[in-house]
Amino acid sequence: MTVTCGWADIGTATRLPITFTRMSAIGDDHLDSDALLGALTLEEKAGLCSGSGFWHTRAVERLGIPSILLSDGPHGLRIQVDGGDHLGLDASLPATCFPPATTLASTWDVALVGQVGDAIGAEARANGLAVVLGPGVNIKRSPLCGRNFEYFSEDPVVSALLGAAWVLGVQARGVGASLKHFAVNNQETDRLRVSAEVDQRTLHELYLAAFERIVALAAPWTVMCSYNRINGVLASQDPWLLTEVLRDSWGFEGLVVSDWGAVADPVAAVRAGLDLEMPSTGGASARVIADAVRNGELAEEAVDRAVRRVLELVALTQPGVAAPGTFSIDAHHQLARNVAASGIVLLRNDDDTLPLALSSGQRLAVIGAFAQTPRYQGAGSSQVNPTRVDDALGELRAGVPAGVDVDFAPGFTIPTEPFTTATSSQQADDRPLLAEAVACARDADAVVLFLGLPAAEESEGFDRTHLDLPADQIAVLEAVAAVADNVVVVLSNGGVVSTHAIEPHAAALVEAWLGGQAGGGAIADVLLGEVCPSGKLAETIPRRLQDTPSFHNFPGENRSVRYGEGLFVGYRHYDAIDGDVAYPFGHGLSYTTFSYRDLSVVALPQFGGPDVVEVGATVRNTGNVAGSEVVQLYVEALDPTSHRPVRELKAFTKVHLEPDESQVVVFRLTRRDLSTWSPRIGGWAFAPGRYEISLSASSRDHRLVGEVNVSGTAPTPPLDRSSTLAEWLDHPVGRDRLLDALRSARGGDLSSLLDDAATLRMIGPFPLTRLLAMMEGAFPDDALETLLDGVARDAGGGEQVFDARQTGWESDAPEDRPT
Ligand code: BGC
Repeated sequence: MTVTCGWADIGTATRLPITFTRMSAIGDDHLDSDALLGALTLEEKAGLCSGSGFWHTRAVERLGIPSILLSDGPHGLRIQVDGGDHLGLDASLPATCFPPATTLASTWDVALVGQVGDAIGAEARANGLAVVLGPGVNIKRSPLCGRNFEYFSEDPVVSALLGAAWVLGVQARGVGASLKHFAVNNQETDRLRVSAEVDQRTLHELYLAAFERIVALAAPWTVMCSYNRINGVLASQDPWLLTEVLRDSWGFEGLVVSDWGAVADPVAAVRAGLDLEMPSTGGASARVIADAVRNGELAEEAVDRAVRRVLELVALTQPGVAAPGTFSIDAHHQLARNVAASGIVLLRNDDDTLPLALSSGQRLAVIGAFAQTPRYQGAGSSQVNPTRVDDALGELRAGVPAGVDVDFAPGFTIPTEPFTTATSSQQADDRPLLAEAVACARDADAVVLFLGLPAAEESEGFDRTHLDLPADQIAVLEAVAAVADNVVVVLSNGGVVSTHAIEPHAAALVEAWLGGQAGGGAIADVLLGEVCPSGKLAETIPRRLQDTPSFHNFPGENRSVRYGEGLFVGYRHYDAIDGDVAYPFGHGLSYTTFSYRDLSVVALPQFGGPDVVEVGATVRNTGNVAGSEVVQLYVEALDPTSHRPVRELKAFTKVHLEPDESQVVVFRLTRRDLSTWSPRIGGWAFAPGRYEISLSASSRDHRLVGEVNVSGTAPTPPLDRSSTLAEWLDHPVGRDRLLDALRSARGGDLSSLLDDAATLRMIGPFPLTRLLAMMEGAFPDDALETLLDGVARDAGGGEQVFDARQTGWESDAPEDRPT
């Protein structure tokens, strides 16, 4: 039985050897921060608030404070020994290049992602690295974001659970993670200046949600603030973000580091809650911070707070806390292969074209430059120097049955510059390649065509402008499909590409994403049936760019980008408009089939605990091969009291089943899962009522659907001077007070005004203060104040705000988790 309930999913499903350390649990024997704070001069303290060189914190040798090394991340290490840059330009030490987050997310496999974190932590430990700069958990707002390959999903639950597993894995090795980019960094265009204009509810429910959950679940040792502004304020200098939300509300106890070069005003940054500015500014920041303390502009306590966190981080990461350790390059390469295979999404498989059924004497035609020159990671600061790289062509040759010939034709050249939709210049040069590809495909027993986005198209630093593949690649597909049946297309890309030009010519479509250094082997494993595909889309593949929810507001202009679509990102948008998509969120085929049965949806008695609903079902492998299914739980409010997406993912689990094997899955939903952020309350508002619960194979494939009525009291927003008549009448205390006041109006009882529904519809939206004023003389001038005082005096007033600590997340606090 798999018990799955948000946080517990991580604890019970991963079975990682997690030893958990909270910042506050650091042993004093390493560095006594109290004593050191007393011994450091103001200049030394100010100095510790920024880095030394590109990748180190500062040392204070006279007090034995060492410097520690921070480095990218996230899908492998980028430790630069000579020189440094944050754009992936200079060389770095060899490290295992695991698949980037886009591929990790498609596994929907918490345990596997935890293992990747663990392996990266082991490599970091072996290389003396104290903090790995990842994971990146920003929401994929638009498919155009140049860094989508580094991010997990359009959905915060997927991002949160997989991101948390990654953090727990890394930190189990005594190495810190850096949760980034906090926050609302969803594009590369103008990323150091742009202001993301987002409403509070969308912020909390979508853009902050994964960060919040990972902080609560995995307690990352550091959080990296982003470059951009949020509603006008630079993230690196935002007291609301770095202190009010991150520390006061979520209880974050670690260190906040800036993204590289994100700080404009070091004094404002320390005051807001930033602890460490990176990289070094050559002492300039230290000087202004020390001057600001001396002239009274900055409280010394703020500097002490930042220094204490730097000292605590240094203490946590010292060799005495965890031994350096070693790791096996081969074992990590194999893990990278397993993960890449698990993240491959079989989008389409007409007539069971896959797996390839080849036998001795047959010929496989492999076409497309990417088969030999794989795209396996994105460009920028995350670029890893791999220990080795497998290509699909070589792996297919090694994997096919004896006696099968594998022929190859590149078909096209890979552009070295970003291309426009109408790129045709390549075609003239590539005509001989195209002819060669057609010849290769003709009379072959099977044809696999590797298409994808050129490396130059996807990078940190800029966004894409369209979703198309280069026109010459499509020309090769069309020409090959004209001479061969059942063409299999394998895609390599970090951000989604439009599939409409591919569909008419492909019998099977495999989204292989960016597979990391062992991605070539992973593709061969899936094509040849060694691995049964089990990946699911963690983001929608839209039909057209014009259909995407942020189309009109991406990437903004004049240093500002308006998040006009609000909560309706990804499937939340497509479901709300019942819109067609190429492939829905959560979709992915298998070589086997699964049945879902015996749904039970039970409202739990609420004894003050977090859990409100338990959902169970049995999943069975009804096909002939072993395989894994991702069971997705979606929730729909049937009587919503606020504007909500139709359905939202709240939990998922991945189960591996042999043919005919069954497994019971159980999910638990918490109060928080059924809450929305209320800007009027300034907190999470539990929404009791009827819910439809679906256990699904994708966001558009709901296998079992049940209903549950969840009891409880919804919090009532407080009344204020602008509250309308309707709001007063909805308020459990305000209503009675108002009725009393109307009954005792000066000219006689006015309460009958409320009896007529038509009148109420018209005057309901009026602020009460205006109505009272219009009823000249009927009420004293201070009537509204008297009413508000009365409501405030009546205990509670019906307001039931709760914060993260009352949601149930705390009950599964990291300390309680199995080690
Ligand atoms: C990126 C971060 C990265 C840092 C250090 C920045 O440009 O945004 O993700 O960790 O550089 O390389």
